[in-house]
Amino acid sequence: MSIRLGIIGGGVMAEAILTRLLASQLYPANSLLVSEPQSSRRDFLAETYGINVTDNNQTTLQATEALLLAVKPQILDKVTSQLTLDAVGNYPLILSILAGTPLNRLETAFPNFPVIRVMPNTPATVGEGMTAIAPGTQVKPSHLALATSIFEAVGEVVEVTESLMDGVTGLSGSGPAFVALMIEALSDGGVASGLPRAIATKLAIQTVLGTATLMKETGLHPGQLKDNVTSPGGTTIAGVAKLEEKGFRSAVIEAVKTAYRRSQDLGK
Ligand SMILES: NC(=O)c1ccc[n+]([C@@H]2O[C@H](COP(=O)([O-])OP(=O)(O)OC[C@H]3O[C@@H](n4cnc5c(N)ncnc54)[C@H](OP(=O)(O)O)[C@@H]3O)[C@@H](O)[C@H]2O)c1
Repeated sequence: MSIRLGIIGGGVMAEAILTRLLASQLYPANSLLVSEPQSSRRDFLAETYGINVTDNNQTTLQATEALLLAVKPQILDKVTSQLTLDAVGNYPLILSILAGTPLNRLETAFPNFPVIRVMPNTPATVGEGMTAIAPGTQVKPSHLALATSIFEAVGEVVEVTESLMDGVTGLSGSGPAFVALMIEALSDGGVASGLPRAIATKLAIQTVLGTATLMKETGLHPGQLKDNVTSPGGTTIAGVAKLEEKGFRSAVIEAVKTAYRRSQDLGK
């Protein structure tokens, strides 16, 4: 079978994406080709998933549908210098997950190719990612549909204009760390209230997961959910009042805004 999807860089994100693509049967193993410099990593990917591997980035350009760039952003110039683009017979869709790497840089590196900039997040590794995609100038609806189907295999997908990518980075990109902090703090609060650590952490994780699932499945507004669980003079409203006193919501808002501004600065 011909190679439909090439991947340059066989690291953490590449593995997360390809495992889900295989599980969803969107791509059979023999239609995937990963280029990776480390031989032990190549062997691992080939043996674990039955996919094609190479140490030659150029061969990934034979992909008929898409080429996923999954190297660290600082490696991009090295990768593009290893590619001879004028020899290619087809123009697969370039999907870049390189954080902070703008479309104009990618389109300059891949002239005449359709390019989509993609921002996934860490929960993609368990199929619960949130991915934003921003199309470049050569992108057609069929390319957007292809990108959406690939990243829907690792979670949810939204399309945004590139100007919103820094906001995406501040929220869903950095968000897993903010939520992890919240879970740790909930667990600490439980321990401070006498719960064993293991039980406190389990309660904290399931409470965050369950609350998110409840809101996602019912469409409940966050404020409505909060109202539903705060009875007059009860325990929850006492806790909510303390969070307000300590500036919890303001701290979270400022965290997202600060991450957004940092993403803007890093992109300059
Ligand atoms: N992890 C996340 O949650 C996340 C979220 C959003 C976006 N991203 C983006 O995803 C990209 C990949 O991140 P990652 O966490 O998967 O990194 P990673 O695990 O370090 O993967 C990068 C892979 O590329 C390989 N590589 C290095 N030089 C190469 C070359 N010249 N040609 C081909 N492959 C080469 C590396 O091999 P060696 O190990 O041998 O160097 C490594 O296996 C980054 O640009 C990051 O900004 C990651």
